[in-house]
Amino acid sequence: MRGLAGKRVLVSGGSSGIGAATARRFLEEGSRVVIGGLDPHEVERAVAELAPLGEVSGLAGDVSSEADATGLVDGAATALGGLDVLVNNAGTAWREPFLEITPEHWDRVIAVNLRGMFLVAQAAARLLVAQGRGGVILNMSSTNGIGGEGDYAHYNASKAGVLLLTKTMAVELGRHGIRVNALCPGYIRTPLNSAIAAGLEGDFVSAYERDHIPLGRAGLAEEVAAAYAFLASDDAAFVHGTELVIDGGQLAVM
Ligand SMILES: NC(=O)c1ccc[n+]([C@@H]2O[C@H](COP(=O)([O-])OP(=O)(O)OC[C@H]3O[C@@H](n4cnc5c(N)ncnc54)[C@H](O)[C@@H]3O)[C@@H](O)[C@H]2O)c1
Repeated sequence: MRGLAGKRVLVSGGSSGIGAATARRFLEEGSRVVIGGLDPHEVERAVAELAPLGEVSGLAGDVSSEADATGLVDGAATALGGLDVLVNNAGTAWREPFLEITPEHWDRVIAVNLRGMFLVAQAAARLLVAQGRGGVILNMSSTNGIGGEGDYAHYNASKAGVLLLTKTMAVELGRHGIRVNALCPGYIRTPLNSAIAAGLEGDFVSAYERDHIPLGRAGLAEEVAAAYAFLASDDAAFVHGTELVIDGGQLAVM
């Protein structure tokens, strides 16, 4: 991928799943990376695993907290001597029928997935504008931000919000040379989905792959990482204000 070598990259939610694969991919491309994550032990473990690949460090915190979100961006900028790319990836999900969602659960999902995305994006954008050299911000949405999968009303609403947050950021930040796009992965094999599937009956994943995904399989974290790398690279220099769907054809089904 062109233009990623030497880039200073912050990956929020980089301690697990898609984010960890993305940190790995950017390191392989020669970028310098800081990862964030909620659990300090998980962040420490991920940094130790990634360290042989290049320059990487980690910061733990909750992106729904303004202090932690700005601390993550400031800490990354200090560690890297500035910032070029934000992979705004941290997120949470759990299944819950609409009729049973409590206000507390609603607030938590929106706080992490939408408020957290906003807080980290705004802190990074302020830094990129102040640096005056442009940059890239990639926000993690989902196919659930486009279609309304049952039992995920709070998650779906948060991810749909990310899409319009992304477009509005693109409208306002384009003149600063900051490209902003969103990713919409479908069903990807990660610890998040394993935890959800573990609570369901039968072989949920095989049935889901067969019934919902034309390519007949779940996606890999590395396949989403490749999309992040493309959108951050110079090969995507005129891609701005849109979303890239990575779903094995799931949204193409009528
Ligand atoms: N797995 C999928 O099928 C899928 C599909 C579409 C979108 N996504 C999105 O991709 C992103 C990564 O998901 P994943 O499947 O790799 O999950 P994961 O559980 O493996 O990783 C989630 C990451 O986010 C971090 N995180 C969670 N809550 C946080 C908080 N409050 N503050 C800071 N960090 C927090 C975790 O520490 C971890 O690093 C999420 O935004 C998720 O919604 C996942």
